[in-house]
Amino acid sequence: MQRMQPFSLRPREVFDELRKTVVGQDDAIREISVALVKHLVGHPAPNILLVGNSGSGKTTLMRAVEQFLAGRADLAEYANVIRINANVLAEERQGYGRAVLARLFANARKIFGADAPFEVLRHSVERGMIFIDEIDKIRADVRGEPNVRGIVAQEALLTLMENENVEFEADGKTYGINSSGILFVAGGAFEELYDSVLRRATIGQDVAPMKPVVVVSASGEVREEIPFHLRDYLKYDDLFRYGMTPQFVSRFESIIVLDDLGERELAKIFVEPEQSIFRTSRAYFERYGIDLQITRGALIAIAWDAARQKRLGARALRETFRRVIRNIEFDPAANGGVLTIDENMVKQAIAGREGGTASKR
Ligand SMILES: Nc1ncnc2c1ncn2[C@@H]1O[C@H](COP(=O)(O)OP(=O)(O)O)[C@@H](O)[C@H]1O
Ligand SMILES: [Mg+2]
Repeated sequence: MQRMQPFSLRPREVFDELRKTVVGQDDAIREISVALVKHLVGHPAPNILLVGNSGSGKTTLMRAVEQFLAGRADLAEYANVIRINANVLAEERQGYGRAVLARLFANARKIFGADAPFEVLRHSVERGMIFIDEIDKIRADVRGEPNVRGIVAQEALLTLMENENVEFEADGKTYGINSSGILFVAGGAFEELYDSVLRRATIGQDVAPMKPVVVVSASGEVREEIPFHLRDYLKYDDLFRYGMTPQFVSRFESIIVLDDLGERELAKIFVEPEQSIFRTSRAYFERYGIDLQITRGALIAIAWDAARQKRLGARALRETFRRVIRNIEFDPAANGGVLTIDENMVKQAIAGREGGTASKR
């Protein structure tokens, strides 16, 4: 097989591609783009830990990287990647992430063919990439109680991350590989982390205490706010206390805190990406010859409503939009032609939730 040269691939190119799916989160996309290129060309690349509230785009970003790699035939030989949920690592009785390696091995066979020489397959596995989602679910302890599943999973991963000879089985045979060159990207919400770091920052433990600043809102309301951004204060120590063991977490040389999405980003997410909620809905109505449109006011109202629902991130968009579109979807043919969602429709739908009436089906 002819070896292609991926060496001309630039992080900026990867970034631009990921940007088509992921809104905001520039730092995270940048970091992943550089790590990915380094890894593909055989440079040491840092393992990355993404910390971000639910619905901020962690899974979306990992998927986008996978899709980027899948869409590039010239990278196929270099792009052995799997994405798993951290929880599955606790399922394996023997631990050591063997099933994970077996999956990379199966991938390698798909890429290079079933009768490829073992050395080729080995190389592919050893240069593989493992994306681990929901990493925060494998804490070693939860509120003071040991969490056996978490301990098992972290140990399995740790073994994978540093082992020069780890064995796994595939079709009845045992293989040994050096897994220390695999690239790991993990993501998690670490829900209680925000509050515990905020507490530490507020009382000034290990840091100068934060001083409130005065903010004036658009409506002229004046209030005091504490300018807290998790990323300014987060330390490895906080992750240890959360229940991630030091040996494990220190393997992630790069920890990135994702931004909470504001109204602007939410509005973009709602319409722009290829699989956005609005595009998907438009496609549904197109089947009935209906051209679905949305006014700017309606878009802003949807983003505003989603933004004020805490801890849901972009997931809130779906709930809000479902309220708006539900009745129209039921009998679209009755509307025909152009169908425009306006601000009023959105406001009514939101008011319905507040009054509790629209939640009746
Ligand atoms: N930064 C983002 N860019 C684009 N879409 C996003 C972003 N964040 C969230 N979404 C959308 O919101 C939903 C949930 O996002 P997801 O990536 O699964 O969040 P999580 O951070 O909890 O993994 C997805 O359907 C995705 O389309
Ligand atoms: Mg997720």
